[in-house]
Amino acid sequence: MRGTIYAMDQPTLNKLLGDLSLGSIRYLNTVDSTNNLAARWAKDGAPNLSLVISDEQTAGRGRLSRRWYTPPGAALAFSLIIQDTTQETVMPNSSLSRLTALGTLAVCDALKQSFPTQLQAQIKWPNDVLVAHHKLAGVLSEAFWQGEQLQTVILGIGINIAPESVPSAELLDFPATCVEAAVKEQVDRWELLHTVLVKLLYWRSHLTSPEFIQAWEKRLAYRGEWVQVIFEGEPSLEGQVIGLKSDGSLKMLTRSGDLVDLQAGEIHVRPLDRPA
Ligand code: BTN
Repeated sequence: MRGTIYAMDQPTLNKLLGDLSLGSIRYLNTVDSTNNLAARWAKDGAPNLSLVISDEQTAGRGRLSRRWYTPPGAALAFSLIIQDTTQETVMPNSSLSRLTALGTLAVCDALKQSFPTQLQAQIKWPNDVLVAHHKLAGVLSEAFWQGEQLQTVILGIGINIAPESVPSAELLDFPATCVEAAVKEQVDRWELLHTVLVKLLYWRSHLTSPEFIQAWEKRLAYRGEWVQVIFEGEPSLEGQVIGLKSDGSLKMLTRSGDLVDLQAGEIHVRPLDRPA
């Protein structure tokens, strides 16, 4: 595979992704956040499944108002605009968690296809991709409603490719890694982008199928393990991860023996038996 550093431009990217059923594609050398630009573009009428991708983000955002670091030449940062939300409106409560999982699952599958023997990626519910207990990618899905109607979802994905994309330890609240460290070789991030998008489009059309939940559950990190669930502004909860419900909520068994379902919101999950 060619190295991460080789530069991209709009015509080359259009050609690289030309075999995929995407809307329009916008490539930038730098932007504040691809999710911000995608949201503005969606409002201005971007076609369904349009893609914004930038080499660098100066104000990349993560879940729970965290920063997401995207230095130039070292990562993948892109946002897919999902406008055909008809099937999501049928199940609005589970739609966002499924769409977030769509991103994490696509990254896991793409890594598996690209590096079959070198790494086993897992999904740390609800939005992180882990390799060997270190975070390698994250998904930020943002929904835009018109009244009760889900109008648009921006699915933002950030993947650490080269070591420069991993922030220094003092900036991290969870240990992180990158694809090149995991596979011990230089990686062509553009080829990986293509594979992630192939997987995204596949799972996009299977979003409401039982196969989707099964694939998600198969990749779920910490199954059978004890975790701490931290709620924003409330006492935390300890429990054992059991699996997923069909709406994408996380099934857990608490220390007192109660089965609880967690909806993704202002919460995060940490393993209890490892430093994080
Ligand atoms: C997280 O781990 O909390 C989610 C990180 C999501 C980062 C991606 S990079 C592309 C898109 N643009 C952003 O500003 N954020 C997402």
